[in-house]
Amino acid sequence: MRRVALLGATGSIGRQAIEIVAAHPGLELCALMSGSQPLEALAHEHGVAHLQVGGDPEPLLETAAPDVVLNAIVGFAGVRATLWALEHGVALALANKESLVAAGELALEAQGRGGGLLIPIDSEHSAVFQCLEGRAPETVDSLVLTASGGPFRGRFRAELATVTVGEALAHPTWRMGRKITVDSATLANKGLELIEAHWLFGLPYERIEVVVHPSSVVHSLVRFRDGAALAHLGYPDMRVPISFGLTYPERAATPVPPLDLASGLTLEFEPPDLDAFPLLTSARDAGERGGTYPCVFNAANEVAVEGFLAGRLGFLDIAATVEDTLGRVSGAPARDLDDLVEADAEARRFAEEALREPAGQRRA
Ligand SMILES: NC(=O)c1ccc[n+]([C@@H]2O[C@H](COP(=O)([O-])OP(=O)(O)OC[C@H]3O[C@@H](n4cnc5c(N)ncnc54)[C@H](OP(=O)(O)O)[C@@H]3O)[C@@H](O)[C@H]2O)c1
Repeated sequence: MRRVALLGATGSIGRQAIEIVAAHPGLELCALMSGSQPLEALAHEHGVAHLQVGGDPEPLLETAAPDVVLNAIVGFAGVRATLWALEHGVALALANKESLVAAGELALEAQGRGGGLLIPIDSEHSAVFQCLEGRAPETVDSLVLTASGGPFRGRFRAELATVTVGEALAHPTWRMGRKITVDSATLANKGLELIEAHWLFGLPYERIEVVVHPSSVVHSLVRFRDGAALAHLGYPDMRVPISFGLTYPERAATPVPPLDLASGLTLEFEPPDLDAFPLLTSARDAGERGGTYPCVFNAANEVAVEGFLAGRLGFLDIAATVEDTLGRVSGAPARDLDDLVEADAEARRFAEEALREPAGQRRA
């Protein structure tokens, strides 16, 4: 029996993970965590003894002693759980990409000490993980992360100034939490995934490409030095990578149907529009600069997305806020978690200040 601590249990990934665990006789939930929603009913329904709402997940994880931590918390709040699992050699099924973006170096150091397995749940990274399995690193040429393009694919930058929250939340292929859905609309999500892929797979940024693929059937590809490329295909359904991460290396059955190729699948690819969606470039730059720049990118983006969802700023102001914030920090590397928390807090303060500027004075 594999004991799963599910953090972010009330969210989109959390709910799908509960379904996967309930359907698998070899998995059981041993701990649940949320940010603010009560967990008693869920715990009662699934017979879970250990619960925690908000705060540091460490006491919960120490008490519950899981075999695997599924980190499905949204945002920087997931950092402590990621570091705890890696430090303690407990398998980490990671949906919370923000923690690896913000704390990539610290996370790899913790994994070096703890030695635990890190399995990505993000569909693109799960795809790359599977395409890379058993291959020698020197045979790999490059990675290709696919992006659906979000609800505003094909629109010019000028057309995006007045888009609404409702339009940004209407994702064409994935049903997800609000924050990641807005990130998908700005392509910040793909920027976060680019940095996540760099840390997970150890490739330099120039060997990680992003292409837009509207139907989200090809989840990602790996190109090899002999000219071959391996791709991972499937219907866009997060239960597949969640199940893979929780049952690895077993690959358990899920209710997701196999691909029906004969019914006609469209596999189109195009380059991302970096003028309309500049956050992808900002993320790449932040990743290449290293230090705490990725942490700052993430923090400023979280503040700006919250501001957008609350109606405090326009869609294009999200990228402007992130750029302003990146321009104000030193980006000095974090020696430890305290340094990182400080860099995150400083970036949030700067982003809040940028948000309070009158719209007319913000950079376009
Ligand atoms: N949804 C997807 O399809 C998908 C795909 C790939 C990757 N991801 C990644 O998975 C993560 C979760 O995404 P989601 O779409 O599931 O988000 P979501 O629906 O917004 O759920 C977020 C979860 O995090 C919890 N949470 C928030 N703040 C917390 C805190 N301080 N401590 C503990 N728990 C906290 C929330 O609890 P409350 O309900 O109490 O607020 C909720 O359970 C994100 O990092 C996202 O990028 C998601």
